[in-house]
Amino acid sequence: MVDVGLRNPEPITEGTFDLSDILAHSTIKPSVPTRDEIDLQEEELIQGEAVVQECSNPPIFVTVSSPYEVEKARRDLPIIMMEQEIMEAIYENPVVILCGETGCGKTTQVPQFLYEAGFGTSNRLDRKGIIGITQPRRVAVLAAARRVSYELGLKLGKEVGFQVRHDKLVGSNCAIKFMTDGILLREIQTDSALKHYSVIILDEAHERSLNTDILIGMLTRVVNARKVET
Ligand SMILES: Nc1ncnc2c1ncn2[C@@H]1O[C@H](COP(=O)(O)OP(=O)(O)OP(=O)(O)O)[C@@H](O)[C@H]1O
Ligand SMILES: [Mg+2]
Repeated sequence: MVDVGLRNPEPITEGTFDLSDILAHSTIKPSVPTRDEIDLQEEELIQGEAVVQECSNPPIFVTVSSPYEVEKARRDLPIIMMEQEIMEAIYENPVVILCGETGCGKTTQVPQFLYEAGFGTSNRLDRKGIIGITQPRRVAVLAAARRVSYELGLKLGKEVGFQVRHDKLVGSNCAIKFMTDGILLREIQTDSALKHYSVIILDEAHERSLNTDILIGMLTRVVNARKVET
């Protein structure tokens, strides 16, 4: 049991108090602050300003107009209850492993959580860049891209795009890009820090496809390269 310290409060001591004794042991501050106190207050103010400046990231506005039936269906997905925890884990850690029951919404919902938080569209440095999602199979790339663009009420080929071998539909203002793991592997060869991306999701990583396994190894280097750059 956790004792919160309220159950057995200290008995209140009864008795009389000598006012002169209290005054003798207390320091009465003059109402006008001393020079040292003014300096300290100014220092605190300056530090306070610095904190305010650090926290004053520009506000993020993301307009999402999902179809009504999608909003209704989303509410029943188990992963929706975990949105805050998932996003906090992403903010606080460079690498997050997400495990969930099949059909709970990992593939379709996590890219939307990120998009709604300003990844892919925001002018904030830490969220600028495309949300990249890999799949081991090209069929899954096309299906997930179609579904996510539909759920977000966005056009496929504009904000949501996809790329597989011999087929690419990626707009100039792409925010979410689905691709095969082979495509990302090729991109790493020319862009070792994956500067165009704000976040990378390796979906179905548990399947341990050869490409995904190599990507996991390569991404550990990407994480370090990006740490050095920031
Ligand atoms: N194209 C689609 N049309 C209709 N419903 C879909 C479509 N794609 C996914 N869904 C539904 O959305 C929900 C979430 O699916 P999602 O693919 O995100 O789950 P998941 O956690 O990635 O599952 P898995 O572990 O099998 O990959 C499921 O209930 C699924 O039936
Ligand atoms: Mg999935």
